[in-house]
Amino acid sequence: MRFKTGAVTAICIAGASIFLVVASTQAQNAGGDGAATPSLPIWAYPVPAAVPGGAKPAVTAQDEGVKHVPGSAAGFTKAQIADLFTVSDWFPDSHPAMLGVVSQGRKPDVAACAYCHLPNGQGRPENASVAGLPAAYMMEQMAEFKSGLRKSSEPHMGSVNYMIRIAKGATPEEIETGVKYFASMKPAAWIRVIETAMVPKTRIAGGMLVLDEAGGSEPIGNRVIEVPENLEQTELRNSKSGFVAYVPVGTLKLGETLVKTGGNGKTMACTMCHGMNLKGMGNVPSIVGRSPSQMTRQITDFQTGVRNGPNAPLMKAPVSKLTIDDIVAITGYLASQAP
Ligand code: HEC
Ligand code: HEC
Repeated sequence: MRFKTGAVTAICIAGASIFLVVASTQAQNAGGDGAATPSLPIWAYPVPAAVPGGAKPAVTAQDEGVKHVPGSAAGFTKAQIADLFTVSDWFPDSHPAMLGVVSQGRKPDVAACAYCHLPNGQGRPENASVAGLPAAYMMEQMAEFKSGLRKSSEPHMGSVNYMIRIAKGATPEEIETGVKYFASMKPAAWIRVIETAMVPKTRIAGGMLVLDEAGGSEPIGNRVIEVPENLEQTELRNSKSGFVAYVPVGTLKLGETLVKTGGNGKTMACTMCHGMNLKGMGNVPSIVGRSPSQMTRQITDFQTGVRNGPNAPLMKAPVSKLTIDDIVAITGYLASQAP
């Protein structure tokens, strides 16, 4: 089997370092060594081992000049794209106007929402898709990040720590502006799920996995390997370039059974609360077509109890008996379904 690695260039490595910097700073703040907690699946919590002196983006010749992405008339420099406080919007006509904090952050703490979640709210594996989630659900989550009821099981997960910092620093008006915007979006297909026994070798970059430039493949084991469709486009934060999730053979069938029937008491049918089509019901969020790494983290966070808001008890019973194999099957199947 051959995997495409041609798109991987030095410019991508530089771009991927944006979150490495954040992650390593957070790790130092937490006084830890930056290595992932051993019991957590590293593919879902891709935290780099401590980078001596912090990861400085390597400036390369390709960093200079104005960048473009297919189908967009816009052009931005690498520095503009990397600016967490002003969103480089490649496709301004494809979404409603981004008001206030959605596209313009407020220093020092409140980065622009659409920088991480993208102007279409589709998000990336290291954060969360928020497009079309119920506004009341999102308001509740913002309150939980702020109060400490929602954290990550991996204290060095720099992206989550940044989200918490934003929820603490934002004004009620800013939170409402961001939530209203994302609630108005329609989620679109964003993740292509492929069952396979072998996966390309990956490395950790900026809170997600990317293909290893050295190439090679390895058995998938009981993991989900979620990588950009095109790393170069992802690093340019092209909001039209999605992700591929490799899952073990048999995932889709097993996952469907668990999700729809509860698998003989292993869990509860997710449809009970997330709706017959799993696209959410009332204030319960959609769980289809969303990042399997992110959903694995959430299920794990409910299990470990670090996600513990007022509605988290409803998730306690469904997750209490799930093994990592079950979680791989469930999140792989859910990611494969139309959002
Ligand atoms: C620096 C990157 C970053 C920025 C900027 C950011 N977020 Fe987030 N956001 C995250 C991450 C990471 C998560 C996932 C948290 C977790 O795993 O618990 C998240 C999760 C969320 C969630 C919960 C989604 C869910 O499925 O439960 C909401 C709602 C949200 N963000 C809204 C916002 C709003 C509104 C803003 C702007 C005020 C914002 N975010 C800015 C990184 C970011
Ligand atoms: C008894 C009701 C109930 C059942 C059954 C249930 N859920 Fe949930 N689920 C919820 C609620 C409520 C939330 C939001 C919790 C919160 O606000 O903290 C949630 C949240 C989630 C989230 C986090 C979504 C996000 O945006 O961060 C995931 C993932 C999830 N559920 C997956 C599942 C799966 C998979 C199943 C079936 C195996 C399932 N749930 C069964 C009620 C349920």
